[in-house]
Amino acid sequence: MRVLLVNGSPRNNGNTIRLMNMVAEATKTADTNVEISTYHLNDMDFKGCQGCLSCKKESATGCMFKDDLTATLAEMVKADAVIVGFPVYMGHVTGQYKSFWDRLYGFIGPEGTNRLPAGKKAVIAVTQGVKEPGHYQEMIDLVEGSMGRRGLDVKTVVAGGTKGLATGDIRFESETESRAHQLGQWLKE
Ligand SMILES: Cc1cc2nc3c(=O)[nH]c(=O)nc-3n(C[C@H](O)[C@H](O)[C@H](O)COP(=O)(O)O)c2cc1C
Repeated sequence: MRVLLVNGSPRNNGNTIRLMNMVAEATKTADTNVEISTYHLNDMDFKGCQGCLSCKKESATGCMFKDDLTATLAEMVKADAVIVGFPVYMGHVTGQYKSFWDRLYGFIGPEGTNRLPAGKKAVIAVTQGVKEPGHYQEMIDLVEGSMGRRGLDVKTVVAGGTKGLATGDIRFESETESRAHQLGQWLKE
C-alpha cells in the first residue's frame, strides 16, 4: 500500500505533521507492506497554478507546469491513500496548501473528465487554535468537496485547541487521537 503525505504547514515538526503521522502510523498496523512518502510543501520550490490551461488539452496528462510539485502530483496518481494536512491560518488553509490545491486543477481533463484513477481514499488533517472542531466547517467542506470531485473518498480529522504553537508537544484530545487512528485503519479497508 502506497501512502502519500502532503504537509501544508510551514512547520515540519508542528502539530499538523504530528496529526498526519498518527493517521499514517495506523495504516501500518498488522501490515508491514506500507510505503509512506512525505512532502513538506514549505520546503519545496513550487508555484501555484499559472492559469496556462495546458492541462485542458486532450494531449495533456495532468498539470503541465514543471517544478518541485511535479513529483508530488505524480505520486498522488500512484498512491492508494493520501493524507493531506494544514493548520488553519486566518480561518482558512495556509498559502502553501492553497498553491498545492490549485495545482490539482490539472487532474481535471477536457470536458471535466477525471485524470486521477478511481478508488483512492484521503484523510484531511486539520489543526487549529480554536478548540471546537466544527468552528471552520464551511472551509473544511470546501476542501473535502474539491477532493471528492477529484474522485477521492474523503474523511477529516480536526485537532483543536493547539494555541501557543508549541512544537510537537501539545496533547491532542483523546477523541482526536482515536479518530486519527480510526481513519488510518479506514484507509486500509
Ligand atoms: C499566521 C497564523 C494564523 C492563524 N490563524 C488561525 C485561525 O484563524 N484560527 C485558528 O483556530 N488558529 C489559527 N492559528 C493557529 C494554528 O492554526 C495552530 O496553532 C496550528 O496547530 C499550527 O499548526 P503547526 O504546528 O503545524 O504549525 C494561526 C496561526 C498562525 C501562525
